[in-house]
Amino acid sequence: RVDRAIRPLSLQDYIGQPVVREQMELFVSAARKRKEALDHTLIFGPPGLGKTTLAHIIANEMGVNLRQTSGPVLERPGDLAALLTNLEPNDVLFVDEIHRLSPVVEEVLYPAMEDYQIDIMIGEGPAARSIKLDLEPFTLVGATTRAGSLTSPLRDRFGIVQRLEFYNVADLSTIVQRSARILGVTLDISGAGEIAHRSRGTPRIANRLLRRVRDYAEVRFDGVVTAEIARQALDLLDVDKFGFDMLDRKLLLAIIEKFSGGPVGLDNLAAAIGEERGTIEDVIEPFLIQEGFIMRTPRGRIATKRAFLHLGLTPDLDLTGD
Ligand code: ADE
Repeated sequence: RVDRAIRPLSLQDYIGQPVVREQMELFVSAARKRKEALDHTLIFGPPGLGKTTLAHIIANEMGVNLRQTSGPVLERPGDLAALLTNLEPNDVLFVDEIHRLSPVVEEVLYPAMEDYQIDIMIGEGPAARSIKLDLEPFTLVGATTRAGSLTSPLRDRFGIVQRLEFYNVADLSTIVQRSARILGVTLDISGAGEIAHRSRGTPRIANRLLRRVRDYAEVRFDGVVTAEIARQALDLLDVDKFGFDMLDRKLLLAIIEKFSGGPVGLDNLAAAIGEERGTIEDVIEPFLIQEGFIMRTPRGRIATKRAFLHLGLTPDLDLTGD
């Protein structure tokens, strides 16, 4: 698939995140030199910043297989045991959404991570007994949008912790130019800049917008993506100048119009816009906070002056009339 084609396979091709890149280059070469498994690695950050991509790169750079699963998929201890006992030496086991592991499954991970061993229960009732199994050395790569919701025993077992940050416009522009090359899209520098500006700091969004802008350029024009064509296409897609989409604007408008700019608690906000609190916390709000459009306070979320101005409103206007 094309998706796979535009994913970088090496740290060399991984754009941005300079700290993560330099550290991972170092840790991977050290582990390779010693012919050991890389230490267990936790990757956290908002969706779309390349957690899965980085896990694949790690396996690739280590020259090992990657097995992929996710927290909610591992329902019983046996599901995890089956994966662990099938690994080859130094393989990567990638567990996405690792904060959603059930406690009984998480228990199996502790000795697996620490001593490459698992205890599995055989039988039931008085005849039940546990047997210890040795595993091959392996690397657990865990990904989560919230490091804060990991239990501390789990978090403590990761020797490497990497936090992915939103990308700047220059890096996003490089990323879409690279993707355009791979997809065979003619994208000029200013077109790349326009897409980069409107991608919420997120490569996944940048690559998605690139595909939609290409559709527009191919159907309405000659297929070449210029800044003007990108601008028209993105306006059509309802992505605004800051890269905010409908959900972003809905959230800002709700805080401002329904709650007089806040503070408003997460549950009230979720009810007001008909989204789950997790979606607000993980998907919508991190970028709005980073860009200074909303703030998190002990009493709830508040819209900043920037948010009012962005929506064409006046901050001190009393919208509720009380
Ligand atoms: N695609 C997604 N993330 C990327 C990155 N950091 N570098 C290059 N391409 C990417």
